[in-house]
Amino acid sequence: MQIQIDQTRLLDELNTLARFTDAEPASEGTPVTRVVFSVDDLRARAWLKKLATAEGFEVREDAVGNIFIRWTGTEPNLPAVATGSHTDAIPHAGMYDGTVGVLGGFEAMRALKRSGLQIRRSIELVMFTSEEPTRFGIGCLGSRLLSGTLDPDRADALQDKDEASLSSVRTAAGFAGPLSTVRLSPNHYHAWIELHIEQGPLLERENIPIGIVTSIAAPAGYRFTITGFGGHAGALLMPDRKDALCAAAELILSVEKHALASGAIDTVATVGTCDVHPGAVNSVPSRVVLQLDIRDTDPGRREAVMQAIRRDCEELRQHRKVTIAEELVNADAPAQSSPNTVTLLENICREQGISYKKMVSRAYHDSLFMARLAPIAMIFIPCRNGVSHRPDEYAKPEDIALGTRILAQALAKLASE
Ligand code: GLV
Ligand code: MN
Ligand code: MN
Repeated sequence: MQIQIDQTRLLDELNTLARFTDAEPASEGTPVTRVVFSVDDLRARAWLKKLATAEGFEVREDAVGNIFIRWTGTEPNLPAVATGSHTDAIPHAGMYDGTVGVLGGFEAMRALKRSGLQIRRSIELVMFTSEEPTRFGIGCLGSRLLSGTLDPDRADALQDKDEASLSSVRTAAGFAGPLSTVRLSPNHYHAWIELHIEQGPLLERENIPIGIVTSIAAPAGYRFTITGFGGHAGALLMPDRKDALCAAAELILSVEKHALASGAIDTVATVGTCDVHPGAVNSVPSRVVLQLDIRDTDPGRREAVMQAIRRDCEELRQHRKVTIAEELVNADAPAQSSPNTVTLLENICREQGISYKKMVSRAYHDSLFMARLAPIAMIFIPCRNGVSHRPDEYAKPEDIALGTRILAQALAKLASE
């Protein structure tokens, strides 16, 4: 079977999608900000659905806004083969994270259709709602709900920084109905494959065009609220202060220290947000909220780092006379790819003389949760200097097209099973 990927069209579509952005243009790269249920997210969704309908695919949406684009097979009652990713983007991100998996998946389906292939199982492309945690503080919202990993009531009660709940925001965006309806049964899909940029430097460094993901590291998220005592920046004397931001600064350094001390390269921890109240230059900070993102391939080691951070919090409470409240946002298990799906991808590469590397994904993806529903694997392609979550994120057109072709070949094989 001859599969021709239309690289020019796929690149055009990636560039078009990148124009649905809230970010100011920058001198370098293509800044993309596309937060879930923002005007640009909704415009991007409408554009994608129009493309899918024009191609003759069926489009369905669920109550959280996950989009399903289906090419129906000759045996529509069999569990479908699925692929996809996300199109939301963190503030000031690039144009390839997630989008390569959505538009590459779409082109893979189109290319198979163009080739005249008759598929036995349906092939479905999924565009997940809010893979990024920007708005509601927790990543993979759509795939968590799909896989039954997040309680629907807890999800609906999540709030954004303006205290708008997911329930009200999704309803305003046109997604009504109970979130409990989003969950799919474990045999809904026959297999799942996600195409994504590596977001790290290894493939480029080793000059290998394809990564085959064997496992995904386990992420966790915590929110720390530090409460001290505020006041006038001129009049409140230094010995009388309980400055919440000074305590937060020590806590941030404690996170870095213990992540480094774990002894494993796979332990990473980041404090990526710091909200200071009241946030005025002449006011002593009375309250600070920090969001911590901590990940490891070994959840036990991740927890040991958290315990060390908690011991430092106890010490900080004493010597800075502040309160520190810790809130768990999520603590997920790692996911393993299915050995059969990995072997399938390896065989496709080998048969065509394409070099590949089996690797761990340190970034998380919706595949982490799809692994609870179906056998999964992921295809990685290199990105320049390993850069991601930045406007200068870049993947070569030929690498995008190659990843898309391998995805198409794998989907074709899985759909014939
Ligand atoms: C996904 O965007 C991640 O943070 O790993
Ligand atoms: Mn991302
Ligand atoms: Mn992503």
